[in-house]
Amino acid sequence: MENPKNFNGLNVTSFESRRAHEIERLIIYHGGVPRVAPSMREVPLSESKEAFKFARELNAGNLDMVILMTGVGTRALVKEISAKYPELNFVAALKKTTIVARGPKPVAALREMKLKPNITVPEPNTWRDILTTLENETSVKGKKIAVQEYGISNKEFITCLKSKGAKVTSVPIYKWALPEDVEPLKAAIKSISDSYEDVALFTSSQQIYHLFDVARKMGYIKKLKEGLKRTLIGSIGPTTSETLYRFGINPDYEPDSPKMGNLIREVARVGNNLVIKKRTALKHGVDTNIWRPTDMVWSKGSQKSRKAVTNNSVFMRACRLEETDYTPVWLMRQAGRYMREYREIRSKVSFLELCRTPELAAEVTLRAVDRLDVDAAIIFADILLIVESLGVGLEFSKSDGPRIMRPVRSGKAVDKFRDFDPESLNYVYDALRITRRALDPKKALIGFAGAPFTVASYMIEGGGSKNYENTKGLMYRDPQAWHSMLKKLCSATSSYLNNQIKAGADAVQLFDSWVGCLSRDDYREFVLPHMKKLVSEIRSDVPVIQFGTGTAAILDLIKESGTRVIGLDWRVDLAEARKQVGYDKAVQGNLDPVILFSSPSEIRKRAKTILDKNKGMPGLIFNLGHGILPKTPVDNVLALIDFVHEYTRK
Ligand code: CP3
Repeated sequence: MENPKNFNGLNVTSFESRRAHEIERLIIYHGGVPRVAPSMREVPLSESKEAFKFARELNAGNLDMVILMTGVGTRALVKEISAKYPELNFVAALKKTTIVARGPKPVAALREMKLKPNITVPEPNTWRDILTTLENETSVKGKKIAVQEYGISNKEFITCLKSKGAKVTSVPIYKWALPEDVEPLKAAIKSISDSYEDVALFTSSQQIYHLFDVARKMGYIKKLKEGLKRTLIGSIGPTTSETLYRFGINPDYEPDSPKMGNLIREVARVGNNLVIKKRTALKHGVDTNIWRPTDMVWSKGSQKSRKAVTNNSVFMRACRLEETDYTPVWLMRQAGRYMREYREIRSKVSFLELCRTPELAAEVTLRAVDRLDVDAAIIFADILLIVESLGVGLEFSKSDGPRIMRPVRSGKAVDKFRDFDPESLNYVYDALRITRRALDPKKALIGFAGAPFTVASYMIEGGGSKNYENTKGLMYRDPQAWHSMLKKLCSATSSYLNNQIKAGADAVQLFDSWVGCLSRDDYREFVLPHMKKLVSEIRSDVPVIQFGTGTAAILDLIKESGTRVIGLDWRVDLAEARKQVGYDKAVQGNLDPVILFSSPSEIRKRAKTILDKNKGMPGLIFNLGHGILPKTPVDNVLALIDFVHEYTRK
């Protein structure tokens, strides 16, 4: 199925020169109205002294390493040198050095010469990635290195290499000039300034320098920047984004893979939403040249009028088993390590710091929604944050996940719990408030907590577990201690969730990830009474989603807790599970998260099976059967979300 989420007639400007025709075709293919204003012209260095000096050095065996930055540059270098020194065996000489290729394009150019690089820099192949790769694979100290450059020289990169003790020469191949005819570029600047353009796509840094250079000559810098406040900015990759930032422009969208096709396909997919969002923000006084997701202001109205819109949203209606225009979808752990936006923020702070910094937690939450176009946001936090307040100590280590410093192994330890102080989690409520204000009113914000059994299992085991020996051990050995512990957890959890609701959560989810390890009798005796009490204490107008895995055998008991929505993992058949929990309950989930590692067509097939089993009944929230896994390809996630929306749209 073709993806019908596209530009839908938006005016899309590009500054691409060499691939102007290709980008024009791509924009049209994705439903946009293109304006392509070539912004640069390649000027060969007429007498490329550096190139010829490089050739002589290479021939004399004086170079240890050659870093090839671009494919076009690599080919041009070979061409110029071969023209001047036909007798030189360029390939053989190059082979004697360590050849470093910055990504797939120089690799392809080398392949044409039947050469392979010794070192290939992985995506997104910025100059920082080159340095890291070199650091991991070799030492540059004392080495003679030639860097093939194309267009502008990267002074920061050269300086960094030198500071590591390398002797570096730069070999520039081409430099950029403005195109001979700058009229199209001027017209584009005017068009952006007059707010005719909806989207501006940048596919290299140099385009930005030239755009601002021409705008300056026209006396249009201010007008251009004002116009860009209304224009959705797409950037092909990190280097281009960095240059945009330098000019005081925040890119609004950057694909993971710095490819023209990805940029256009992905911006087309969310373009309409993001253009409306950006212009709404501007109307409400946000400086959309330099803004963060948390700056968004959707309406100047009260939260009460906002709430009316949210209550009628697709997600909230599905929770209440009302008819919806399409099946809502979100993904558990949707803001996580599989996403570049998350990894970038996470590389600067620890996981717990991220949770405890409301602005950052909100930003991570919101970025996932913008990127994925899901129907609900889930606040970024963790089910174990609550246990800190009880005084058992919490740590997240890099390799083995959460660790409880003082595992609970006896009734005495339970008696020693500190009283839960709901204010100790103020940072979560703050994150919810910031997120709710910046989140589209048509999207629901989900608050959450761990369900008492699963949280108790971490507190007792001290971390993750396979067989839950200590948890069940305490349960069987000392039922009184167990019930006392669950009571304390329930009362803390209901207070925590009601505070989340006050701060703006529209629905709440109880994560009972590991409850499926219990027998029916044990669930009935050790968990169900507590769940019933907990659910009864949560504000009754707010939908509660109860999630668990491996719960096929206890779904009928889980239903008795009284939540409106029941989570399903992938081990159950959707049609049978709906029958089992009763048609008065909404359900959520059912796709195996591992299917996201297959292909878009396979993913669509599997999602279709689930949707067909639902037979159009109300009360289905599409989700995975468990959290999304850290290595999941984002492209596949986008394919899933779009399929669910399009296939079910009435
Ligand atoms: O869904 C979301 O986007 C919201 C955020 C969220 C996280 N954890 C962030 C997180 C939610 C809803 C959770 C719930 C959670 N936490 C559960 C229940 C859901 C499930 O998957 O079963 C559980 C069992 C935990 C406890 C936990 N937190 C574990 C076992 C781990 C380590 C394993 C892992 O996946 O890394 C965490 C850490 C954690 N929580 C991360 C994230 C994004 C990864 C931390 C990192 O960035 O290094």
